[in-house]
Amino acid sequence: MIVLVLGAGAREHALALALSRDPSVTRVVVAPGNAGTPDTAPVDPADPAAVTALARELAADLVVVGPEGPLVAGVADALRDAGVAVFGPSAQAARIEGSKAFAKEVMAQAGVPTAAARVFDDAQACAAHLAQAVAPYVVKADGLAAGKGVHVGSDLEVATAFARDVLSAPGARVVVEDFLDGPEVSLFAVTDGTTVVPLLPAQDFKRVFDQDTGPNTGGMGAYAPLPWLPADAVPQIQREVLQPVVDAMRERGTPFAGLLYAGLAMTARGPQVIEFNCRFGDPETQVVLALLDSPLAGLLRAAATGTLADHPPLAWREGAAVTVVIAAEGYPAAPASGDEITIGALPPGVDVLHAGTRRDGDRVVSSGGRVLSVTAVADDLGQARALAYEGVSAVRLRGSHSRTDIALRAQRGEVSLGDSVPTPEERT
Ligand code: AMP
Ligand code: GLY
Repeated sequence: MIVLVLGAGAREHALALALSRDPSVTRVVVAPGNAGTPDTAPVDPADPAAVTALARELAADLVVVGPEGPLVAGVADALRDAGVAVFGPSAQAARIEGSKAFAKEVMAQAGVPTAAARVFDDAQACAAHLAQAVAPYVVKADGLAAGKGVHVGSDLEVATAFARDVLSAPGARVVVEDFLDGPEVSLFAVTDGTTVVPLLPAQDFKRVFDQDTGPNTGGMGAYAPLPWLPADAVPQIQREVLQPVVDAMRERGTPFAGLLYAGLAMTARGPQVIEFNCRFGDPETQVVLALLDSPLAGLLRAAATGTLADHPPLAWREGAAVTVVIAAEGYPAAPASGDEITIGALPPGVDVLHAGTRRDGDRVVSSGGRVLSVTAVADDLGQARALAYEGVSAVRLRGSHSRTDIALRAQRGEVSLGDSVPTPEERT
């Protein structure tokens, strides 16, 4: 099987590595890729015609779409229309990530537990609503915002100003919703629009600095599985969240086939949905796929061709995986680029996955905010953590920074279901 992976991040590098381990795969091309992905093709992954032409030229048996942008732009529709098997939802179905208001509508239809929410297009009405709401306030821009369109905080003026700022753009809408209190879980499900196969639960670290301080980022690290999550949580989320949403999408006439990513808070009232994404998460994918023993291309092709019900149950490696992101100087506000990266000897069990990197002659230099994702697999979380940080110390990149506490509280047994989650002000 020849597989084309669209995207350029550590998620796509992880997908390429896992796909290459599948014995049925003869070639994996990542487009546009980065300095870590050996087989690349230059393409704008959000250009449906260019991607379709590339898939034809490569005679790809499967296209796996990494980021949300191409999905929302209809790349999966164009490929499907051209008769190419594609893992990724239609533009209509990708709205589950592309519009928070749409996601709320689907959840209401499907009876899925989520924060109560109201949608506003008028700043004055929104301010009046916030003034009588209970802190902490959660305000979200409606639309794709690369993780930066959400404000959570207890200061009414700041929340109101955030909403006003978003609504100053023509046609903008905001969603104001209740604060969900509890530790967060990212659960990915592979689906063909009918059958739902959950992967291992993971947790990511969205804030840039240790102890969850500083601004939100695309994600600074992740680990899987979650030792503190009860064994029945994944089946419960499948039953109460994933399957009902997949069924509702099909009943609406916009079946969701691809990767449904549920971001959940484990609250006192059970799992509640914070958000859906229409694609693999980054950096959670790095740890989830590191533990997958089943052939990945076979699984994704079954989802792409509507035959997931016949797929054998997934096999997972025992143990744990941890990934630590190495970010460029200045990330997330103003990341530096063009700095040389050198990687020393790595211990066994460690992969350095590339994100914002490119080749410059025979050097590898930084070219984005999240530069590398150092991923380790070991028999337990403590060992995986130690190995990942050993890998981080083997990397030289001027001015770079990483969190030092990825998976630390879980390793120490300090995460529990009853935890209250502090707001950003309470942490600083
Ligand atoms: P999102 O872009 O929707 O994933 O939001 C980014 C982050 O904001 C989430 O990972 C949560 O940490 C936080 N967040 C979003 N919505 C809520 C909510 N309703 N209650 C508490 N925290 C939230
Ligand atoms: N890890 C968060 C995301 O991929 O959106």
